[in-house]
Amino acid sequence: MLLSSAESDALLTRLRAAGCVFAEDEARLLSDTAGSHGELESLTERRVSGQPLEYILGWVDFFGLRIAIDATVFVPRKRTEFLVREAIAHANSGATVLDLCCGCGAVGIAISSAIENAELYAADIDPAAVDNAARNFEVFGGRSYLGDLFDPLPDFLRGKVDILTANVPYVPTEAIALLPPEARDFEPRFTLDGGSDGLDILRRVAGEAPLWLAPGGHLFFETGEDQAMAAADVVTASGLSARIVTSDHFHSTVIVGTRRT
Ligand SMILES: C[S@@+](CC[C@H](N)C(=O)[O-])C[C@H]1O[C@@H](n2cnc3c(N)ncnc32)[C@H](O)[C@@H]1O
Repeated sequence: MLLSSAESDALLTRLRAAGCVFAEDEARLLSDTAGSHGELESLTERRVSGQPLEYILGWVDFFGLRIAIDATVFVPRKRTEFLVREAIAHANSGATVLDLCCGCGAVGIAISSAIENAELYAADIDPAAVDNAARNFEVFGGRSYLGDLFDPLPDFLRGKVDILTANVPYVPTEAIALLPPEARDFEPRFTLDGGSDGLDILRRVAGEAPLWLAPGGHLFFETGEDQAMAAADVVTASGLSARIVTSDHFHSTVIVGTRRT
């Protein structure tokens, strides 16, 4: 809806006072979404109370794609686009892509949309995430499964996965209290908490990954900068070769594990 310049200024002032760094962009997105003044007021109240913008809009812009996101499902982060780029750089046409811990499905969708004839499979332990991903897959293609890591996947994928992404929860338990309120207060703890050193779920993924990867297939996951060496050791111990890649632009660290044979 269109706002008068006085209304627009008032909205900007409220968003800035609430600490929204990109207040002008957010004001535009909220007013574009609202169909009436009443609706704009309720969307604005949600935002100034700290709810993630993406939950209010119902979508997230990830890798240039508009992906539906439901409140309570982990919001894909801009920095994860680096993992997506790395995965695409290692993929060939017709690749089988498996996105574990898929959340709303954004990572797998972004990768498979850049690869000709890719086949996308995804899984998550959270029913809300799997429902969300399934709706996105109706638009972009892909199949989703509900369950713990590899457990719900069909057997025919064993030894066939070319690109395995797993943006697992990797925040050390004690560091959760230090996260920004948008994450700490609105995203479920099981989407963030990686155990005492942040690597608990990663250890389980790396342990099973060699059984699911095709020869020459790759595993990709994100870590904190200070976790990277330990995470690479976990991957090496599973029998994969490991490489650490970083991006200053995305503020992101990614471990690439490769099955040689
Ligand atoms: C950091 S979020 C990443 C979501 C998505 N990949 C993204 O980047 O937007 C981690 C996800 O792992 C899922 N998860 C946590 N433990 C899991 C498990 N044992 N098996 C499968 N998924 C799990 C959570 O439900 C959450 O969706």
